[in-house]
Amino acid sequence: MSESSHQDRVLIFDTTLRDGEQSPGATMTHDEKLEIAAMLDEMGVDIIEAGFPIASEGDFEAVRDIAKLSKNAVICGLARAQLPDIDRAWEAVQHAARPRIHTFIGTSPLHRDITALTQDEMVERIEATVAHARNLCDDVQWSPMDATRTERDYLCRVVETAIRAGATTINIPDTVGYTAPRESAKLIEMLLERVPGADEIIFATHCHNDLGMATANALAAVEAGARQIECTINGLGERAGNTALEEVVMALKVRNDIMPFRTGIDTTRIMGLSRKVATVSGFPVQFNKAIVGKNAFAHESGIHQDGVLKNAETFEIMRPADIGLNATNLVMGKHSGRAALRSKMKELGFDLGDNQLKDVFVRFKALADRKKEVYDDDLLALMRDSDLDAEHDRIQVKFLRVICGTEAPQSADLILSVDGVEHRVTAQGDGPVDATFAAVKQLIEHDAHLELYQVHAVTGGTDAQATVSVRLSEDGKIATGQASDTDTVVASAKAYVNALNRLMVRREKTKPEGNLAAI
Ligand code: KIV
Ligand code: ZN
Repeated sequence: MSESSHQDRVLIFDTTLRDGEQSPGATMTHDEKLEIAAMLDEMGVDIIEAGFPIASEGDFEAVRDIAKLSKNAVICGLARAQLPDIDRAWEAVQHAARPRIHTFIGTSPLHRDITALTQDEMVERIEATVAHARNLCDDVQWSPMDATRTERDYLCRVVETAIRAGATTINIPDTVGYTAPRESAKLIEMLLERVPGADEIIFATHCHNDLGMATANALAAVEAGARQIECTINGLGERAGNTALEEVVMALKVRNDIMPFRTGIDTTRIMGLSRKVATVSGFPVQFNKAIVGKNAFAHESGIHQDGVLKNAETFEIMRPADIGLNATNLVMGKHSGRAALRSKMKELGFDLGDNQLKDVFVRFKALADRKKEVYDDDLLALMRDSDLDAEHDRIQVKFLRVICGTEAPQSADLILSVDGVEHRVTAQGDGPVDATFAAVKQLIEHDAHLELYQVHAVTGGTDAQATVSVRLSEDGKIATGQASDTDTVVASAKAYVNALNRLMVRREKTKPEGNLAAI
């Protein structure tokens, strides 16, 4: 037997499509969810939490279709501790070769207050709901939400109840990112020691990142005996997010000497997934993010550059290729052909079908005509835009001409296509972006509040593309839009319209009859 087969296997449970999608503004479309699930499956994720089926018709359909298309991974659906939730989750996941129901209830004093259940009543509820789930499905995961703020004796009692009722995995969530590594380890050790039957189930760790300790807390739990890590790509998730998949997986790989655990993840797919999730969620990865940030393998100081050129290990603890970053940098330009573009996109993590290649190639040529050299980041921006500009978007920017300069007022002449019909308007504003947004608002009346307007240069140079992010909120719903263009005002108009399209999708999720008048 090889040395590695003696090592303990840690299961990777990815919840990008459920907990990750709960990030304000990170809504993904049905097709985007299916694509991400397929990529996670190929990457070797053991369990994919595909959504919360009772939350909406859209969530239900996504979980059901991911279950139908799944190949290797267990497909999991989330349910509150209520029988209709559990039935709905089962309805969606039962199509998978390996289905799982994940049911949860908040067990800390704060959460018990909200549900108005006494400790005994909650124990009864847990018993009934877990047993119900187990009657439907052999694989049942149970979570005491806010476990790290639950009284220890009571936590032992509820975990024991869930195990007796048939749970096969017990997940211990640090729902508000409150714990610290030593405490996270002690909690798992205590449960393994005190709870009857604990050695027959798998303990999972689910950490939020409010104090920036999610990855450290998850790894500490594993060292104490947890054998499932719950995480998301890029650490996407509510508030400060979740444990990042790429961080735990690479930490276990790079520091296998002190953490002798193995995962089934093909790490060379990490970069592709990171880019895909950043693209579809509208949450760009911060430059200095561990593993997947743009600067994670960049060396700026002379000493570092010199060292890396002589021996990369001087300042690199992993190789870029380990996470799927190719060292060669083929610069693309207007003479590059389709084959080169296809191969470059593959290197960047996008396996383009013929139709998508055709579409991206047209955009690439248009960009290459305006820009001397097209860099990797330009292509990633192009990919994001081709995803965003999907034909099904109800509102699309067709034409924009802006008059700006030292003499006010600035004005924007805009044509939007709305459900296939073109509308034209001219509006004035305090600067070109303000005039453009005023024009959009005249054509698409809405009460959404502009929460964020941000501009980033994709690369250097005065011909660089600008990526614009726009965040809108309306009635508690948040939608983020992004777009890139060498013209910052055009990118702004497209980002604004993209956010409006996403806001409409959100509205339609809760109001199936949603129409433009409603926005
Ligand atoms: O953070 C949390 O407690 C959760 C539960 C639903 C597992 O996401
Ligand atoms: Zn969570």
